[in-house]
Amino acid sequence: MTQDELKALVGQAALAYVVPGSIVGVGTGSTVNCFIDALATMKDQIRGAVSSSVKSTERLLAHGIPVLEASEVESLPVYIDGADEIDPQGNMIKGGGAALTREKIVADLAERFICIADASKLVDVLGRFPLPVEVIPMAAAQVARRFAKAYGGQATVREGVLTDNGNLILDVRGLQIREPLAMEAEATLWPGVVTVGIFARHKAAVCLLGTPEGVRTLQ
Ligand code: 5RP
Repeated sequence: MTQDELKALVGQAALAYVVPGSIVGVGTGSTVNCFIDALATMKDQIRGAVSSSVKSTERLLAHGIPVLEASEVESLPVYIDGADEIDPQGNMIKGGGAALTREKIVADLAERFICIADASKLVDVLGRFPLPVEVIPMAAAQVARRFAKAYGGQATVREGVLTDNGNLILDVRGLQIREPLAMEAEATLWPGVVTVGIFARHKAAVCLLGTPEGVRTLQ
């Protein structure tokens, strides 16, 4: 099976976690695009979606799925999103699509994070994928120095990318994230950091992994 077929498989499988009559939290990325296309087949059974990016909003609306603002809802039963890496405990690196801040905001509204990914995203230790960090532009150089000093990571500004919030993305290479909760907590406090792409406080409750043998469920 191709990677695209594996993404379609888990996008479809995620429908089983959508609570009828509810509002669904929707992430961002190519795997989530498959989920949105699958969600369109049951759009009459949901009240709408809260989206984590302009791109996902456009896709949801194109399918006729109503999109609500995050400020209009108090909680969501599930948030369904992809990941760049996930470890066996459900900790993730996210932000490859630069949507990490809105993703964390919508994940925070949700009771459960359902991660959908192809099997290549499962790793023992997070960090081979460069860690995305959204920063206010004036802080970029200082945050890069902090990653080097605290964790030996080399941060570079992602060329030509401004987030939906008008900020920069740093990609930090050379990390081995053995204590994701602690690193997320520390780096989140550095001035100018908007969001660190470690999702440990908001880790996945369930991960649907696409494998050539079918969908493997980790929980
Ligand atoms: C976007 C993300 C995505 O969930 C992550 O990059 C995975 O994307 P894809 O499904 O295209 O592999 O965090 O900010």
